[in-house]
Amino acid sequence: MLTRTGRIGVMAAMPEELQALLDLMPDETAQHRAGRAFWIGHLHGREVVAVLSRIGKVAAATTTTVLIEHFGVRQIVFTGVAGGLGDGVRVGDVVVADALVQHDMDASPLFPRFELPGTGLSMLRPSADQTAAVRATVEQALAPSALVAGDTLADVHLDELGLALPRVHQGLIVSGDQFVHSAQACAALKQALPSALAVEMEGAAVAQVCHDFGVPYTVIRTISDRADDQAHVDFPRFIQSVARRYSLAMVDALLRAQ
Ligand code: ADE
Repeated sequence: MLTRTGRIGVMAAMPEELQALLDLMPDETAQHRAGRAFWIGHLHGREVVAVLSRIGKVAAATTTTVLIEHFGVRQIVFTGVAGGLGDGVRVGDVVVADALVQHDMDASPLFPRFELPGTGLSMLRPSADQTAAVRATVEQALAPSALVAGDTLADVHLDELGLALPRVHQGLIVSGDQFVHSAQACAALKQALPSALAVEMEGAAVAQVCHDFGVPYTVIRTISDRADDQAHVDFPRFIQSVARRYSLAMVDALLRAQ
């Protein structure tokens, strides 16, 4: 599912996620470009370039462009957290994107709302085959048995955090340059994009750059909040105790998979 030959770019949204991944890589060395540290090394026999995406669409687009144009990655995996929008998408669940939209792109009346001028597209879709394979691997990586006995997940105590076992969803992730944290903003997004499962700040920008360069990509998000008035309260604790570990378990499983 991930390329055996050629470099894989792993973009992490949070420093905690990146560090957890670097701790697993035996041989990484840093190269600096555009003010970012790109960590080149190996994991499970694959050549990996790991980097912090930085926050927001432009920052993530720059990071993606450097990964592709300078470091020559053949594929990109993005992990991070997101606010849950879809009914039944709970804190602690995971969403694998099969479509991405920039929810704050609006060049109307010149172009339809959400359309990316010059592409004729509003929605970007990673390859369906790859998405299905990624989803299956992620489901396995976060299965109840892995949460009990897995290398990276055994010490995730969901009950202490009031969380249920993770469910893996597949669907639309929307991205924009706002941290969404009010019931009103959340309702407006759901009205404009009813099928959206999650909202974050980078995925659809990564997708646009990958689309332009013809590079396959995967965006996976752990739900850290419900994008409502409680959003900021849940965030830091969740990242440390859950999201960092899920992210590592998922990336590890993807890199191990054939
Ligand atoms: N990332 C995590 N939660 C988010 C939210 N509520 N809005 C935007 N990005 C997020």
